[in-house]
Amino acid sequence: MIRIAPSILSADFLRLGEEVKRAEQAGADRFHIDVMDGQFVPNISLGIPIVKSMRRGTSLPLETHLMIEQPERYIEAFIEAGSEILIVNQENSPHLDRTIQLIKGMGKKAGVALNPSTPACTLDEILEELDLVLVMTVNPGFGGQGFIGYTLRKIRQVRKMLDSRNPRCDLEVDGGIDAATIPLVVAAGANVLVAGSAIFGDSDGVAAAVKRLRAAINEGIY
Ligand code: DX5
Ligand code: ZN
Repeated sequence: MIRIAPSILSADFLRLGEEVKRAEQAGADRFHIDVMDGQFVPNISLGIPIVKSMRRGTSLPLETHLMIEQPERYIEAFIEAGSEILIVNQENSPHLDRTIQLIKGMGKKAGVALNPSTPACTLDEILEELDLVLVMTVNPGFGGQGFIGYTLRKIRQVRKMLDSRNPRCDLEVDGGIDAATIPLVVAAGANVLVAGSAIFGDSDGVAAAVKRLRAAINEGIY
């Protein structure tokens, strides 16, 4: 089962509630919330109040992608706000094991993201502990960027590692995901697809966009 996770970074925040409802009704599986601090990445985005509001607007799982320095400082606050899946980056987490155990100790799902230039082998020791591996398919910081093709090799590598050592772990991709890149990432082994501009930037509306992505997934039935 391939899951779609709309990234609200590209949503119209004046109409966030409506857009979220539409995405949910059209078959979105969870929502992806990008938190940026202007330090770890060169942009500032969303924070705890948005997660709280989202929690009132949908019953789908909320995953929080913490693109911030020292993400461990905010894990509890984002969980209290209503997030069920917490994703930190490998590159901002020198004490990754401690952070993963903190998240899991609070009964939530723990994910680790890898920037495009970070090799899959950096997760070798901790793979069995993870609920989700997020392969960044753009450099984190902005929506609407072009998909980086060489990340496909890493998706295939992570898929192999997970199949043999942690098959229940999600393999998520984030950045430049649309109807054209979906067949590539799904064939490479991704099972959760984050999409921001392909959903919230579609001129036909959010519902049509989610359906189009679902059709791209089904077309390939791999
Ligand atoms: C990028 C973020 C993404 C972003 C994806 O730093 O992590 O989640 O919203 O946007 P699109 O789908 O437009 O590439
Ligand atoms: Zn993200």
